[in-house]
Amino acid sequence: MSFLTSALLSSSKATMQWIEERTGVVAFAKPLLFHHVPRNAKWWYVFGSATLMFFTIQLVTGVCLATVYAPSAAQAWESLNYIDKEVPMGWMLRALHGWSSNAMVVMMAIHMLQVFLHASYKYPRELNWITGVFLLLTTLALAFTGQVMRWDQDAYWGLGIGAAIADRIPLVGDQVRALLLGGPIIGGETLNRFFALHVFILPGAALGLVGLHMMLIIKNGISEMPKPGAIVVPSTYREGFEERMKTEGVPFVPEAVQRDMVFCGVCLIALVALAAFYGPFGPGGMPDPTLINTNPRPDYPFMWLFGAVSLLPPASETAIMLIAPGVGVLVLIAVPFLSNSGERAPSKRPAMVLVALVTVMAIAALTWEGMTSPWSPVMDGWSALPTPAKFTHGRTPLEMQGAVVFQFAQCRNCHSLDGLGGKRGPELDDVASRLSYDQLVRQVQQGGGNMPAYGKNLDSAQTAAVVAFLATLHPSNEPDAKIPGAQLPPPPGSANAH
Ligand code: HEC
Repeated sequence: MSFLTSALLSSSKATMQWIEERTGVVAFAKPLLFHHVPRNAKWWYVFGSATLMFFTIQLVTGVCLATVYAPSAAQAWESLNYIDKEVPMGWMLRALHGWSSNAMVVMMAIHMLQVFLHASYKYPRELNWITGVFLLLTTLALAFTGQVMRWDQDAYWGLGIGAAIADRIPLVGDQVRALLLGGPIIGGETLNRFFALHVFILPGAALGLVGLHMMLIIKNGISEMPKPGAIVVPSTYREGFEERMKTEGVPFVPEAVQRDMVFCGVCLIALVALAAFYGPFGPGGMPDPTLINTNPRPDYPFMWLFGAVSLLPPASETAIMLIAPGVGVLVLIAVPFLSNSGERAPSKRPAMVLVALVTVMAIAALTWEGMTSPWSPVMDGWSALPTPAKFTHGRTPLEMQGAVVFQFAQCRNCHSLDGLGGKRGPELDDVASRLSYDQLVRQVQQGGGNMPAYGKNLDSAQTAAVVAFLATLHPSNEPDAKIPGAQLPPPPGSANAH
C-alpha cells in the first residue's frame, strides 16, 4: 500500500518535472503568486481584483448565453424571451450578465479613482494607467454593444443616437455610420456587426489588455500607500522600492490575497442578490422605429451622457458630442505625463483631490439627470389631447388630414404645438416661417438630427398631407411655408420627388 502511494507520488512528481522542464509554467506562476506587496497595502487595494472577478463572470455567463442567443434581427428578441422563460435558470444567467456588467464598470471606476487619488500612476507605473484607460474604453464599448444585443427599443434608440453622432463627423460621417450599421439604416446586418464586436473582437482586446495590465503589475509591483514626504524620484525609485519590498513586503499569497477574496466574496453575494431580486435587464418592447411611444434609456454606464445631451442646447450638440469624448480620453491618457514624480499623498495634492471630487459629482448629477429627465418632457401631450382646434380652423381637407397624420404618427411625442407635447424636437407652431416646403418634406422623409426618418412609415399621400399641414403653421400675418405660391396645396405626388 505504502509502496503504491509512494510510486504514485514519485510518478506524479516526475510528470510535473516533465511538464515544468518543457513549459516553465511553475517558474512563470511563482512570481504571480508570491511576489511581495507592501505590508500596508490593505483594503484600498481590493478594487482591481474585484473588477477582474466581474470580468471573469462576464466571460463565463457570456459564453453560456451565446449558446442559446440567436444573433439575427428576426430572432434575437425572441431568443432572449426564450432564455428568460424556457431555459432553466436562463433568466438568472441573463440577470447575472447584466448586473455584473454594470458592477464591472462601477468597480473599475472606483479602482481608477483610488489609483488617481493615491497617484499610483506615477513613475514607473505610467503604462499601468494607460493600459487601464484602454481597458475602460474597451469595457464601455462592451457595455454599449451589449445593450444592442437586447435588440429592443432601448437598443434601437441607443443605436439611433450613436448613428446620429457618427453621422455628424465631418467628411467621413456617412462612411462611419455605414460601417457601424452595415448599411444606411438599422437593420439585420447591424445586429450581426455588433454581435461580432461584442463576442469576438472586444473580449479579445480586453483579454489582451488584462494580460498586459497584469504583466505590468508584476513587473512594477504594487505601489505603497502614499505618505506625505515620501517623494517619487524616478532615478532612484525602483531600487528603493525593490529593497523595501524585500525587507518590509509580504507575499501576495497568502497575505494580501485574503482581503481580495473576502471583498470578492462580498461582491459576489451582492451580485447574486441583485440578479435574483431585480432579474435581467429587458428586453423591452420590440424594436420598431414607428413606435416612438416609448421611454428609452441607455444602460447605466451611459446614463450621464444621456443626461448631458438632454441639457445641451441643441445647437451645440454636434460640437460637444464629437469633441468632448475625444478630449476626455486624451486628458485621461495624459494624466501620468502631466506629473510622474514627486508627492503622492492626497493631502499634498489638494488640486487633484478637487478634480476627482468634481468629476465624481458631475457624473453622479448627470446620471441622475439622465434617469429622471423624460425622453420628451411631456409624454402625454400627444396621446391624451387632440391637436389644438385652433390649428385646424379654416384648413383645407388635405391639411386637416395632415393634422390627423400628425396626431397618429405621434409627432407631438417630440414636438409641441401651442405648448402641448414633447420638447425633444423644436416646437412647430411657426415652423413654416423657418422652413420651405421642400425642407419640410425632407425633414419628414429623412429625419436627421435625432429625428427618425418617416419615409418608410408614411406613404406619399400621408407625407403630402402632413407637410401640407406643417406648411400652415406660421403666424397669421405670414403666407404659408417659404416658397411663393405654396398656399395652394401641392399635388400629393410631389412629395415623392425627393
Ligand atoms: C423622436 C423625436 C421626434 C419625433 C417623434 C418627431 N420629430 Fe421632428 N424633429 C425632432 C428633432 C430632434 C428635430 C430637430 C432636428 C435637427 O436639429 O436637425 C426635429 C425637427 C423637425 C422639423 C424641422 C423643425 C425646424 O424648425 O427645423 C420638422 C418640420 C419636424 N421635425 C416634423 C416632424 C413630424 C411631422 C413628425 C411626425 C411625423 C416628427 N417631426 C416626429 C424629433 C422628432
